[in-house]
Amino acid sequence: MTVMASTTTADTVRLRPWRSGDVDELARAAAHFSPNALAARFGAASTTIPDWYRAHIVEARARGRWNACVAHSGGHIVGWAEYGLDADPGHADIAALVGDRYRGNGLGTRLIKHVAALARSVGVHVLHAQIRVDNHAARKALYAAFPNLRQTELQDGQWHYAVDLPRAPNRPGPIGRGRPDDVTPAPRPPSSSRSRRGTRRGVDASS
Ligand SMILES: CC(C)(COP(=O)(O)OP(=O)(O)OC[C@H]1O[C@@H](n2cnc3c(N)ncnc32)[C@H](O)[C@@H]1OP(=O)(O)O)[C@@H](O)C(=O)NCCC(=O)NCCS
Repeated sequence: MTVMASTTTADTVRLRPWRSGDVDELARAAAHFSPNALAARFGAASTTIPDWYRAHIVEARARGRWNACVAHSGGHIVGWAEYGLDADPGHADIAALVGDRYRGNGLGTRLIKHVAALARSVGVHVLHAQIRVDNHAARKALYAAFPNLRQTELQDGQWHYAVDLPRAPNRPGPIGRGRPDDVTPAPRPPSSSRSRRGTRRGVDASS
């Protein structure tokens, strides 16, 4: 996927499946994410990708219980969406994080769709997500990715969502087979002078 996401230059953003070396790259990726974004994802304000989280990825991936789709640009990870299998491996939790200046280009929605296809390909038939009630971007990205999204409960300030995936044998899209998925949307002006909807114009919706 190619996204013109910079305010002044064209950045190539490519979506691809997670690779084992990515866990080390994550340690260097924090600069792309504001403390607020990291707090929304990890539940506590931070300026780094937490060590416990990277250790969790190594452990869960080694057991085949975790996978992700990565957005990569300029040699850096600028976003990813992940699933982690629940105790019942037909169910998985998903989450996503997109670099602040890359948002509003449809990247989060695409990452979520791709990681859903990865999960489905290993037998997951229900995805779950917990989103704080004030996290409008994440809720909209989920609804954009899954028209059949169900709100299941509201607990401790978080909406719980579920989405049923078809049980039929899955053929993952190009990302699932390891091929890049490139798109070239139009450049966007500085965030202070644009509407949010305007940033979506020019995004090639082919994937
Ligand atoms: C949630 C997140 C991944 C979305 O990434 P993104 O690349 O901006 O998502 P998209 O561009 O695909 O936008 C998805 C929808 O959300 C909307 N949206 C994006 N940012 C928004 C914002 N700040 N406020 C309201 N809506 C917003 C978009 O307009 C789009 O809706 P539409 O399809 O009706 O136009 C990103 O905001 C993020 O990383 N947030 C911090 C981490 C987080 O909260 N993760 C979720 C909890 S695990």
